[in-house]
Amino acid sequence: MENSNFSDDCEIKLKTKKSLKICKILKYYKELDSTQIAAKKLANENFEEGIIIVAEEQNKGYGRTEKIWNSNSGGLWFSMLLRPTIHPSESSKLALILSIALNRILEKKYKIHSEIKWPNDILIREKKIAGIIIEMSTKRNIINWIVAGIGININNNLPEYLVDTAISLNKILNAKVDRSYFLSEFLIIFEDLYFDFQKNGFKQFFTEYNDKIAYKNKQIIVDDGYNTIIGKNLGIDIDGMLIVRTDNKLERITSGTVRLL
Ligand code: BTN
Repeated sequence: MENSNFSDDCEIKLKTKKSLKICKILKYYKELDSTQIAAKKLANENFEEGIIIVAEEQNKGYGRTEKIWNSNSGGLWFSMLLRPTIHPSESSKLALILSIALNRILEKKYKIHSEIKWPNDILIREKKIAGIIIEMSTKRNIINWIVAGIGININNNLPEYLVDTAISLNKILNAKVDRSYFLSEFLIIFEDLYFDFQKNGFKQFFTEYNDKIAYKNKQIIVDDGYNTIIGKNLGIDIDGMLIVRTDNKLERITSGTVRLL
């Protein structure tokens, strides 16, 4: 890992006395290409679970489906190196759990109502405040590493092309938000969910996720990369798949992008 742009003058740091297994080391950079790229490099160098990379700005931040992720200064852009003991087929549920953790912090700590647009976009007033990406490497059907990247619009100004679809937390609260506090509280919440999920599975989170799902019982369009499915959003099943009632059947969707019809 290059240290040239590593900054000791950390704008974002942990603000908790709790020792967190998922955050033994937090590295803050003023600028990176992408925290995902940096964390995946460490993952491939066999670093342990528990490293978090945060960047003030990313010049090659990316999201799901390789979309550019606008990452200018003021947001919270970070990636976590995880090595969960779950089957690779369970990894997509981790993104659902990360969504629950984000939803909980917004509701519990900031008293803001948020929704989860399946699988893992966080919406406030129907605008996107946060997104999650999960990247994984497996070896003989065992997870070698997962790098979970999270981008939250906190104090960043959004470019013109995003203002209709995205929103920052400071605009909602009408005040600058302490990103270190947000990150620390998020990690405290997520750590519990993460270990609970590995021990007891996803079932326990299923109802909470469905309570928070956006566009429930509404007509939606889902683009799964190959097909477009139109129908009523019935929420997720116990495996985290989205159930859509089309004209003639129930579709179970594993991945895709949801829009309101
Ligand atoms: C999405 O909604 O498509 C997921 C967006 C994920 C963005 C975060 S910002 C931190 C990390 N680094 C990246 O390059 N992407 C993720």
